Amino acid sequence: MTTDAVVDLGALGEEFRRDPYPVYAELRARGPVHRVVIPEGHEAWLIVGYEAGRAALNDARLSKVWSNAAPELGVRTVASGLSMLSTDPPVHSRLRKLVAREFTPRRVDAMAPRVQALADGMLDAMAKEPSRRGDLVESLAFPLPISVICDLLGVPFMDREQFRTWSNIALSTSSAQARTDAADAMNGFLVRLVADKRERPGEDLMSALIHTADEDGDRLNAEELLGMAWVLLVAGHETTVNLISNGVLALLTHPEQLAALRADPEGLMEGAVEEILRYDGPVETPTYRFSTAPVEVGGTVIPGDGRLVLVALADADRDPARFPDPDRFDVRRDARGHIAFGHGIHYCLGAPLARLEARIALRGLLDRFPGLALDADPAGLEWRGGLLIRGPERLPVRW
Ligand code: HEM
Repeated sequence: MTTDAVVDLGALGEEFRRDPYPVYAELRARGPVHRVVIPEGHEAWLIVGYEAGRAALNDARLSKVWSNAAPELGVRTVASGLSMLSTDPPVHSRLRKLVAREFTPRRVDAMAPRVQALADGMLDAMAKEPSRRGDLVESLAFPLPISVICDLLGVPFMDREQFRTWSNIALSTSSAQARTDAADAMNGFLVRLVADKRERPGEDLMSALIHTADEDGDRLNAEELLGMAWVLLVAGHETTVNLISNGVLALLTHPEQLAALRADPEGLMEGAVEEILRYDGPVETPTYRFSTAPVEVGGTVIPGDGRLVLVALADADRDPARFPDPDRFDVRRDARGHIAFGHGIHYCLGAPLARLEARIALRGLLDRFPGLALDADPAGLEWRGGLLIRGPERLPVRW
């Protein structure tokens, strides 16, 4: 391969899904930007390495607005409404400010007892399971984040299986038609939800967002509320599921790290969660960016006419120039500075909540199940498709 060859990441198949890190490292050795075809089928410019990645995430010439995409790329968003993830300043700044008024660290802190109670209920159910084995995604990693999001949205009960199917399909490599159908179904659900909250507000975040207004009386309109509900549902649960699964997998495949964490959970848990985010974060490349002006990266110019630009967060956090011995999983390392939650103006608004959920879930698992172990060959696990979300479809464990 020469530096200007187009690398077809989709053609790398199962091996790349399971372990994309060596492929990214090989690209990084050749330079910080590469033309690729992503598994979703689109041509893109892929940025690898820590410094180049951070710079791109902060580059105002790379727009999040889908109408800036070159038409021949054929990309189409499945999300509805107008959200922070599909806008640039000044629209983005306005939305973020209005949402941040309500989605505060205080609201997240106040959720801790509820997250703990939800996790305890799931761990109790695991403890009662006679076979003492099962799929960790099914028993904890999936239900915990979705229950937390239901609380935020003010949905006392939601058809979880139905929702999981929609959101899984909408974010997958399924056919365009299947993705559109799933997205339409989810959209209908969210429109009804927002209308319902408007009529019968509760204590939840969604109700607060409907009624919030800043000093100038500025408010979120219907399209913006819908966009926010989408982001909460999709960004808030697809990711956290995989923070828990990838974390448990990393710990169970590194027994000495697991032993260290078991010996001092109080002292090491916070750092362990950061290391899990760095070592095998849930977002492999973040949401799409489109070039609105030529951008030079390491001597190569990305044309300015709406090219799709992706930042390999997964590679940035394994760059030896930033993290020594990056492929080593070490719960005692200082992993701060990782960009698993992004960087710049789109930095994840849900990071405190994701961290809270991961700490509670992992702590509960370790405390309750001293014999927790993998119940499958890690090399045989099936991984989520596509370049956005990274995590195993199922994680068989014994406890
Ligand atoms: C481990 C879990 C999570 C990870 C790894 C994660 C990762 C990310 C990343 C990488 C971005 C930036 C995307 C970009 O620049 O293109 C982002 C944005 C965002 N995330 Fe998260 N996220 C997680 C959990 C959550 C949760 C639980 C919520 C809310 C409940 C949330 C809400 C958001 C929102 C609203 C944005 C958009 C911020 C903006 O554009 O200004 N995320 N997240």
